[in-house]
Amino acid sequence: MKRTAVVRGLGSWLPPRLVTNHDLAQQLDTSDDWIRSRTGIGARHVITPGVATSDLAVQAGARALKSAAIKGVDAVVLATTTPDYLCPATAPLVSARLGLGNVPAFDVAAVCTGFLYALATAAGLISSEVADCVLVIGADTFSTVLDPQDRSTRAIFGDGAGAVVLASGTADEIGALGPVRLASDGAAAKLIYIPSGGSRDPFRTPTARQADPFFRMEGRAVFRQAVEHMTSSCIAALHDIGWTVDDVDLLVAHQANLRIMHAVTDRLGVPRCRCAVHLDRVGNTAAASIPLALDNATRSGLLLPGHRVLMTAFGGGLTWGACTMRWPDIEPG
Ligand code: UT7
Repeated sequence: MKRTAVVRGLGSWLPPRLVTNHDLAQQLDTSDDWIRSRTGIGARHVITPGVATSDLAVQAGARALKSAAIKGVDAVVLATTTPDYLCPATAPLVSARLGLGNVPAFDVAAVCTGFLYALATAAGLISSEVADCVLVIGADTFSTVLDPQDRSTRAIFGDGAGAVVLASGTADEIGALGPVRLASDGAAAKLIYIPSGGSRDPFRTPTARQADPFFRMEGRAVFRQAVEHMTSSCIAALHDIGWTVDDVDLLVAHQANLRIMHAVTDRLGVPRCRCAVHLDRVGNTAAASIPLALDNATRSGLLLPGHRVLMTAFGGGLTWGACTMRWPDIEPG
């Protein structure tokens, strides 16, 4: 039977500091009522000064390795938009701190779809026999790139990390990953972007206009595209594996906004009680969003061994995707 990537371990980490909607309302013209009703978010975890993305990734990665009961892997793939440095990638730093030796380690940049892109990359390393076992991490500290005055982005984003261990197995095992659907549309890149600090507008070059180092998002347009593309990629991923909507035990959508998640759930015809909701306590954690939601659903008993899981995400790039999985019999680390 064809080599297939199978999930063998799961872990996550949230920085301890919690920022509630009430805390935000002390600093910005916003309210708990507005944020809850427009997004479903009540609080988010935020790093303290001196903590970086790799610090969260190391914690989540260590927990995923513990969950898989292994000490080493053959590769590390890390999805992030908020690396510790522009150069080098964050994955080698994480790999070294986890004591994983000289294994290949690299970052994947697909913003909030990053975890699905990293999963697909790791699954490819396994199916092409480059690796037998890969640590896949989604980690982001969006608090480091948000405009302190921008109430629409500060209301939704939080920091966190989540990780899975993928190992070589067969498609009939529980834990087996189905085909991953991925897509992008760079023509709409400026709906979600950080204008300055990259090679297009480096900070070190004086330009006529003021550099803008902050994350910018056209919320309404992104909302519409997110609903459309997550729905269509879910339909494609179900088709790929030969499941119907009724086969789905749990929909784990990128936790961007509860209204977006419910719109996707309703369009697909999945009952809302089968949609994993975690953002009320963590907000939108970008690349960490799906593994954090998987960890939470496992701990709360919503996700059980053998369950059919449909995962989908949408983010900057624009990027989006979906994939299916039979949930394995694992304890989060
Ligand atoms: O992670 C991957 C990609 N990201 C997403 O999927 C996020 C998609 N977008 C969204 O979730 C929503 O568009 C937001 C939560 C960002 C904004 O919600 P919205 O319902 O689309 O609001 P809006 O942008 O249409 O703004 C409506 C009003 C505006 O005021 P005016 O111009 O009508 O006076 C905003 O300034 O709401 C205002 N507003 C706020 N008011 C209070 C925006 N953010 C806030 C806030 N508190 N935090």
